[in-house]
Parts: sequence; C-alpha cells; structure tokens
Amino acid sequence: MLKRTHNCGQLRAANVGEEVVLNGWVRSYRDHGSLVFIDLRDREGITQVVFNQENSPALHELARNLRDEWVIGIKGRVLARGEGLTNPKLPTGEIEVECSEMEIFNKSVTPPFEIDNADKVNEELRLKYRYIDLRRQRMKDIMRVRSRVTELVRKFFQENGFFEIETPVLGKSTPEGARDYLVPSRLAEGHFYALPQSPQLFKQVLMVAGMERYIQIARCFRDEDPRADRQAEFTQIDLEMSFVDQADVMAITEKCIALIFKDILGIDVKLPLLQMTYKQAMDDYGIDKPDLRFDMKLKNITDIGAASEFKVFTSVAGNGGLIKGLCAQGAGSYSRSDIEKTLTDFVANYGAKGLAWFKVVDEGKGPELNSSIAKFFSDSQKQEIISRFEAKVGDLILMVADTEETTNKALAALRCKLGKDLGLAKDDDYKFLWVVDFPAFGWNADEKRWDSLHHPFTAPVAADLDKLESDPGNINSQAYDLVLNGNEVGGGSIRIHQPEVQARVFRLLGISDETAKDRFGFFLDALKYGAPPHGGIAWGLDRLVMLLTGTDNIRDVIAFPKTQKGQCFLTDAPSTVEQRQLDELHIGIVTKGPKK
Ligand code: AMO
Ligand code: AMP
Repeated sequence: MLKRTHNCGQLRAANVGEEVVLNGWVRSYRDHGSLVFIDLRDREGITQVVFNQENSPALHELARNLRDEWVIGIKGRVLARGEGLTNPKLPTGEIEVECSEMEIFNKSVTPPFEIDNADKVNEELRLKYRYIDLRRQRMKDIMRVRSRVTELVRKFFQENGFFEIETPVLGKSTPEGARDYLVPSRLAEGHFYALPQSPQLFKQVLMVAGMERYIQIARCFRDEDPRADRQAEFTQIDLEMSFVDQADVMAITEKCIALIFKDILGIDVKLPLLQMTYKQAMDDYGIDKPDLRFDMKLKNITDIGAASEFKVFTSVAGNGGLIKGLCAQGAGSYSRSDIEKTLTDFVANYGAKGLAWFKVVDEGKGPELNSSIAKFFSDSQKQEIISRFEAKVGDLILMVADTEETTNKALAALRCKLGKDLGLAKDDDYKFLWVVDFPAFGWNADEKRWDSLHHPFTAPVAADLDKLESDPGNINSQAYDLVLNGNEVGGGSIRIHQPEVQARVFRLLGISDETAKDRFGFFLDALKYGAPPHGGIAWGLDRLVMLLTGTDNIRDVIAFPKTQKGQCFLTDAPSTVEQRQLDELHIGIVTKGPKK
C-alpha cells in the first residue's frame, strides 16, 4: 500500500522538489487533454494532483477513469505551480504534485449529492448518507472543535484533581423532569432499567464514597421531542466536587470555559464572569437566560397602564397582570403592517393577545408618542412612558399586557428577534453570565403542589431552611446557570447533604416517604453514611460546540443525530424486532386502534 508521507493540507512552496505520497478521496476531476488534474482530499485539506501524458502515458490513461470519491494513494514530486496558476484560496495553492505512481484503493458509486453543496441539500438525505455529509469541510471542522473541547476538558479537570469515572447507562430513573427511556430486563420479568437523564445521583453517591472530585463526559437520555437546541440523546460535561460552595464550582467552571474559548476562538473571556440574580434577569429581560449582547431592557409600565384609559391595559392591570414593553432603537421606520401583522403574529406564538405600540416622533414640539392608542394616554403619561423607556425620536416602543408569565415570555422572545433583525446581536460577540439566586420551588397550579425548579437534590439557601414548611415560595436555592448569548450552556447547584433536609424537601414536593424509599432509597441511605457537603454542575457539550462553531442546529454538532421524530435515518432506528426477542423480554405489543 502506498502509505502517506504528508496529508493533503500540508504541502507548501518549501516542499517543492520533494517526493511525497498522499492518500485521500478524489474530490474533483478535470481533463485538459494531455494533462488530467484532480483535487485530492483528506481530513486535513486538498492538494492538486496532475497526471502528465508526456511523462507517464499509462498512468495518465488510468487517471482518466478516476471519478469523484474514489479512494486512492499517489506518489509524486511536488512542483511549483506556474505563474498565474496558484490558488490563493487553498493553503496548498502554491504547489501541485505530479503523479508518478498510483494505487486505487476503492471505487465509489456516484454520491447522492455533491459534497461541497451539501448545505443546500435536504437534511433527510444528508442524514441518510451521513458518511458522505461528514466528508464536508464544515462538518470536519465542527467535529475537530468537538474533539478539541473534550480534550481540553479532560486535561483541565485531571490537572485540577478530578477523577474521570463512568456511571451506568442501565440504571434507575433519575428525576430531571423529562420522560425516561426504559429498557426491559430479560432476567427479571416485568422489570425495567431507565437510561440516565443525567448521572446526578451516581455523582452524588461518588461524593459520599469519598472520590471528592468527579468528571465525566456523560451521555444523557431524555425522551422528549427534539428541537433546534435539544436532542433526546445528548452529552454533558458533568462534574461534582466535595467540600465546596457555589463560588468554588462557578470559579473552576469559568476557568475551563475561558480556556476553551481562548484555545478555539482566540477570545479572552474576562473573569470572573458577570452574575445576575434570577429576579433581575426576569425583570429586565423576561427570561432566565438573557442575551446580553445588546441592551433593550424590558420596562414595567403596569402603573401607567392602570392609570390610562386604554381598556386592554386597565383590565389587565386590574386583574393583577403585568404590562411591560421594550424600546427598539431606530425601529420607528417599521411600517404599521410590520408591527400589526409580523410582530403581532410573532408574539401571538407565545400566547400574547396583542402588541401595543408607540412611535416616538417630533412634530416640532419635542418627542411625542404617535399611535392609534395614543389618545388613551394623557400628555404626562406619554412623557412618563418616553422617559421610562429612555426613548428617542425614531424609536419604536412595543408593549404586551397579559399574565406575568405570558408578558415576560412574549417580550423576551420579541427582544431576541429584534436583536437579530436590527443587527444588534453580533455572531462574533460572546456575552457570558451566571444567573444565580433562583427560587427553589414553584407552585404547580395544575397539580396543586410544589415543584423543585432545578431538581429535588438542590440545596435551599441555608438561611431559608426554616421556611420549608411555612413559606416555600420564598426560598432561594443554591443553584446557578451558565448563560451565553441567550443560551443555557450549563446548570448546577450545591446539593442537600443532610438526609433530614432531603426528606423534608421530598415531603414538600408531595413525594411520600414510601415513594422516596422506592425510587431513591439507595440514595437516601447513602446520605446517612457521612455525606460531605458537595455540589456540581453539568454543561451541555452539544450546545457549547454549537456556540463555538456558530450553528443553530444541534444536529450539526452530533455525528449521528436523531431527527425531530427521534429517528436515525442512517440506521433506520427505531425499528421492529423479532417476536423471539420480545418473548425473551416478556413484552407483548398492544397495537392501538384508530383514535376514537
Ligand atoms: P440540566 O438538566 O440543566 O442539569 O442539564 C445541564 C445542561 O445540559 C444541557 N441539556 C441539553 N442539551 C441538549 N439536549 C437536551 N435535551 C438537553 N437537556 C439539557 C443544557 C443544560 O444546561 N444533573 C443536572 C446538573 C447538575 O445539577 O449538576 C442536570 O442535568 O446545556
Ligand atoms: P384593540 O383594542 O383590540 O383594537 O387593540 C388595539 C391595539 O392594542 C392593537 O395594536 C393590539 O395589538 C393591542 N393589544 C390588544 N391586546 C393587547 C395586549 N394584551 N397587550 C398588548 N397590546 C394589546
């Protein structure tokens, strides 16, 4: 076999005259009569290879049979390309290799799509022929970044005294709030394993076991509908530490994040990262993962709305709702149909029943508000609105009145949309922040009980512990989320390490002692045997790589992802299995009839 001496991205003018061997795939083929040119591609790049009829007639004849994606090895001499023939777009563009020997390792049938144009091909086809799709430079670049991130992470945490420990994939349900994937047991009839939604309980048990610092690049499984930034099977960089507080976990996390951004993007991330309380994030941005690349804060105008004569506002204010708005600088040029159709339809997706607006104009008497609803506001109310939004002539103020939840949700989404549309959110700008001081519990009105907002193992702030039974709605947790440009990259917390506190939290969440024993008995037992104070965090590796490589499709950063319907187009999973396999697993399939 012709074994390579160099890769296809390596040769430069300095190599001219050397005899080299390259291996790779035929990327393109050009027959210029006495000269045949091919671009030879491997993982590292592309090199032009030339077959000269005069120098090697038999080889030249053979080269005429080459087709796209054939796999070959060539031996030859590196030549400088002639005057005017260099290709400045290719790192190897100054040279070419004149072939003197060739080995054809394999032919290829015609690929289902042109590799260099694969981003214009429908994604189903790309996923079915993923091995062709992954040959694209862009996909290789993404995989390279992903591999480099895990390399940096492993090195960083090992240098900082973390053990890399694997936890089981066949396990017992852990409550991260999603649906479990279940695996039937052959040996124990009617019993099931659950695939881990995260290694949460195992990593806490490792702390009880005295491992002190744990890291794992862990696969997690959550049976929920995949979305643009969510897969049912995804990867976490998961860590846990003993004898630490919140600040310690945050400090080590951000140090590693800064290292990754420096290494991959050459960006200096300023540490310590900004911190913001959950309350401030909700007040100013309507969401717990604000995009801080641009300002455009939300302002509460419930008081002005209540005092106005605009029925929508007075009735929402009267019903204890929330009226908020934002000021889009310079967007006064938006047409009425942009606002009343496009933007109003947009917020309707988030449940808002309408979108009220004012344009800030100056008709000679200084800034004033112009809109069909302006007549419902007094002059002083209008001036108060202008000053609250710090609005300037030419700006557009947009407002939603609804329940607190809907108003925040709709405006948070609108703010992000406008940030993009107005070019305020720059792709090469990275604004990190920690969101802290989350409420520990939220009231679940449907089921009339308290839910933990992180997971039930998150420690409440010590000073709030005595409110566990009397005022759970006003307890903060020691949880923290790492946010980048509007994306939740990671989340973690200090954990409860005292069994009595854990039992009280379960009771609050309506998990009976019996259920707790059945589901997490092993864990509650472990806490009784000297559990150290501990805490940790998990980052979404896929999301981090998305941000590092600038894609908004999570499937781009996973070699073999699943579609929206949870299918793998390459392998056709999920698929039916043989009756014999079902019998062994004590499983019968009940086919649902048509919906009644
Ligand atoms: P959490 O559920 O917040 O915390 O997950 C941590 C991080 O994992 C990423 N992530 C996902 N990425 C892709 N697809 C998904 N379906 C998906 N779900 C979550 C997010 C998120 O911030 N055990 C806790 C961590 C801890 O407390 O230490 C946990 O799993 O980036
Ligand atoms: P209407 O009185 O329904 O004609 O609405 C007048 C303006 O108020 C329109 O621009 C609506 O989009 C807007 N509007 C209606 N309901 C709301 C709401 N809940 N919040 C904000 N604006 C609204």
